[in-house]
Amino acid sequence: MTRHLITSAIPYINGIKHLGNLVGSQLPADLYARYLRGRGNEVLFLCGTDEHGTPAELAAAKAGKPVAEYCAEMWEVQWELSQGFRLSFDHYGRSSSAQNHRLTQHFAGRLDTAGLIEEVTEKQVYSNADGRFLPDRYVEGTCPNCGYERARGDQCENCTKQLDPTDLIDARSAISGSTDLEVRETKHLHLRQSAMMDQLDSWISSKSDWPILTTSIAKKWLHDGDGLQDRGITRDLDWGVPVKKGDDDWPGMEDKVFYVWFDAPIEYISCAQEWVDAGKGDNWERWWRTDKGAEDVTYTQFMGKDNVPFHTLSFPATILGSGEPWKLVDYIKSFNYLNYDGGQFSTSQGRGVFMDQALEILPADYWRWWLLSHAPENSDSEFTWDNFQTSVNKDLADVLGNFVSRITKFCRSKFGEAVPGGGAYGAAEQALIDDLTVKTRAYEAHMDAMEIRKAAAALRAIWVAGNEYLQSAAPWSTFKEDPDSAAAQVRLGLNLIRFYAVLSAPFIPDAAATMLAAMNSNDDSWPDDVPGALNALTGEHAFSVPDVLFAKITDDQREDWQARFAGTRD
Ligand code: MF3
Ligand code: ZN
Repeated sequence: MTRHLITSAIPYINGIKHLGNLVGSQLPADLYARYLRGRGNEVLFLCGTDEHGTPAELAAAKAGKPVAEYCAEMWEVQWELSQGFRLSFDHYGRSSSAQNHRLTQHFAGRLDTAGLIEEVTEKQVYSNADGRFLPDRYVEGTCPNCGYERARGDQCENCTKQLDPTDLIDARSAISGSTDLEVRETKHLHLRQSAMMDQLDSWISSKSDWPILTTSIAKKWLHDGDGLQDRGITRDLDWGVPVKKGDDDWPGMEDKVFYVWFDAPIEYISCAQEWVDAGKGDNWERWWRTDKGAEDVTYTQFMGKDNVPFHTLSFPATILGSGEPWKLVDYIKSFNYLNYDGGQFSTSQGRGVFMDQALEILPADYWRWWLLSHAPENSDSEFTWDNFQTSVNKDLADVLGNFVSRITKFCRSKFGEAVPGGGAYGAAEQALIDDLTVKTRAYEAHMDAMEIRKAAAALRAIWVAGNEYLQSAAPWSTFKEDPDSAAAQVRLGLNLIRFYAVLSAPFIPDAAATMLAAMNSNDDSWPDDVPGALNALTGEHAFSVPDVLFAKITDDQREDWQARFAGTRD
């Protein structure tokens, strides 16, 4: 048994996430956590909300609420949705927690002591009407290059030219529209990542087993152009972690907060502290401090590709630079993007399916199965309603659901609602057991390697093998001549239902629970011994016929949903 720390990138607080966000971090992390628990490992699975930064402030302003109140409400919303999708976090924290404030300030103090912080004076746009400095992308104006009137201070969306806010003609605040802007000097802290480049480079180079997607992004940042750049870690905002060195004030930084990307990953650690403080665990250090037991933890992170630079370079720079024995990540599983029906998911245009809407129309398992079996691992992938309908109807309804329904109903009609004890497994049964032994080991190998699509395909192959067996054994025919052989066939079929429940639980936990309950079993131990597992239910063991596990998606439903989620440009 190994101890596994698993974290999913913590979603931004502003707004409900779409299915592309879900499959890019939280859902695969949950799959892996459930699998490892199922195999008897000790797992700590953490996630939470990423609450700081300008987008959170603006979303709160738009909702007409104080930002702290807005965040508390949205935390609740996101937490409920995570439960709706059966994400099995041990704790769902908040980057705005007291624990994270303290720890963020602690790291800043340590980095300063280590000589890794530089104070830099910068020029930045200040909006008199808004009474605040404006981040580059909150300055809008006319592009000097192409004349586009809604260019942002960092880039013109129309001609893609990189801009400086002072380049814009008729610059205005994107918050209030005010043109009463001026350039002011302001002091910021920079993390001297450049000083840690060699250390980070050799660490990344040692990760020969990481996905190419992960290491290629890290190496690009390390080696393109002038190499790894220092990075501003403070902002002129109200909402965030106040800039301090540990418990002490930081002269000249009184009105500033840490940059959201500085404090957010620290929440991975603070979240473990919150887990303890909430009374759910008793020792966070044995997960996070290598001097306190974490040296034998395996730590895996899940995230979308846009998050990779922060997790391969910036966050490691923070914790390595502290000079303290923090646990470093052992494996980073990153994802490409999921597109939606010929385009992108778009929050602003309401295009695509969002987490709340998904659960309004179908139970979590339907989504979990499609999303995981089509995870954007090696390239971007695309959600289409056709593909979704086909997958659900074939894999879940025809292959798995139908198997469960046929075998339980047939048994009930011929033998009653208890496992028939007669007969013995013969050659065909043995062949199936041998085949499933091989297939189970293949499934485990893909799960161990976090090859999610391959794992889904392997699981589907396990379901298919049972279906094919049932089709050729045909107990409904055997029964007429040889009821004892039919009893053995049905017994194997009922055992397969329990076996499928255990193997499928990481993907479709609700259906798995229904199957296990129908088999009147609470034995969810992993089938290390496949023959043993397929002999677990013996004669006279009562079971019941479950309700339909998966309803088919009709063409009408598919068309309705396609129209409903197409999005509207206003
Ligand atoms: N909120 C970011 C996003 O949704 C992810 C933050 S991950 C962490 O892209 F490292 F900061 F925690
Ligand atoms: Zn332009």
